[in-house]
Amino acid sequence: MKKLLLTGALGQIGTELTTALRKAYGENNVVASDIHPEIPDGPLRGGLYEVVDVVKPKQIADVVKKYQVTDIIHLAALLSAVGEAKPHLAWEVNMGGLFNVLEVARECGAALFTPSSIAAFGPSTPADQTPQDTIQRPTTMYGVTKVAGELLCDYYYLKYGVDTRGVRFPGLISYEALPGGGTTDYAVHIFYEALKHQSYTSYIDRGTYMDMMYMPDAIKATMQLLEADPQKLIHRNAFNVTAMSFDPEALAAEIRQHIPTFSLSYKVDPVRQNIANSWPNSLDDSVARAEWGFKPEYDLAAMTKDMLTQLKIKLKV
Ligand code: NAD
Ligand code: SER
Repeated sequence: MKKLLLTGALGQIGTELTTALRKAYGENNVVASDIHPEIPDGPLRGGLYEVVDVVKPKQIADVVKKYQVTDIIHLAALLSAVGEAKPHLAWEVNMGGLFNVLEVARECGAALFTPSSIAAFGPSTPADQTPQDTIQRPTTMYGVTKVAGELLCDYYYLKYGVDTRGVRFPGLISYEALPGGGTTDYAVHIFYEALKHQSYTSYIDRGTYMDMMYMPDAIKATMQLLEADPQKLIHRNAFNVTAMSFDPEALAAEIRQHIPTFSLSYKVDPVRQNIANSWPNSLDDSVARAEWGFKPEYDLAAMTKDMLTQLKIKLKV
């Protein structure tokens, strides 16, 4: 039986992934961890929890040994917009943290899953239907750490046999926890504002297409890849995955199917716009489909309908 440790478990992905893993593997086989001493109100209250700062290798090793962890799900990171505001800290947390976690995985014989991102691509990458194997010259610190992280995970697999696996997630849309400071966050905030004020001011300009995915598909993909037959995995770090690609106008039009009075305006943030401009418009995820059966369920229409339904309940509007 797997014993799993999540780092960065209080973030947007970890909040939902921890719950899903507990359902699949049992409450006592999934340890959530994050840098915060307190678990906020919400779904993670009550389960196994440890404070782990990933830049401190001993804290990781102590928890892995204490629970005899077999699989580390490494989520602790600074995202793209925060990474551009604090590039030195982003390097320290994203690269230092990953290196520490990989070392513990090597020493303790644990497997490691960690997400990369569409940010691992850059302006010289083919922007449409971006292939699995292509040019990766990102221009953000976050992207630099993601490419280096992919390579480091491959290195630990090839050199030491650590079972490393990862996906390049697009922007993730969810209602449980707010996103933690990325460029794609507008595609979450827009739903809150649509329900509360029937309007949203976007910091990303019209015509800017980025890949996105609804959280249930991201959770399903993660769990599928964790259980995938290693013999079939050629591209371990990291698989392109996507579910939809849209710009703010297309998302607003879909929201108007449910809230006809919704209005969208723009106040473009040059920093996040530049980041978005450097990322692909749409990914080719055929390799993930072929090697481990990736198949998302939610397109733009299905995601929008479910987000509005779930958020109405959450926000009591
Ligand atoms: P998030 O910002 O919501 O959560 C990150 C968590 O890491 C936070 O709870 C934070 O407290 C924690 N953390 C920060 N510094 C830490 C440290 N030193 N030690 C331990 N914990 C620390 O991020 P997320 O959206 O859940 O992303 C998780 C992973 O998925 C990241 O690697 C991210 O790059 C990747 N990813 C996310 C998205 C997305 O849209 N959410 C897309 C692509 C890739
Ligand atoms: N959603 C993430 C970001 O915008 C993509 O990795 O930073």
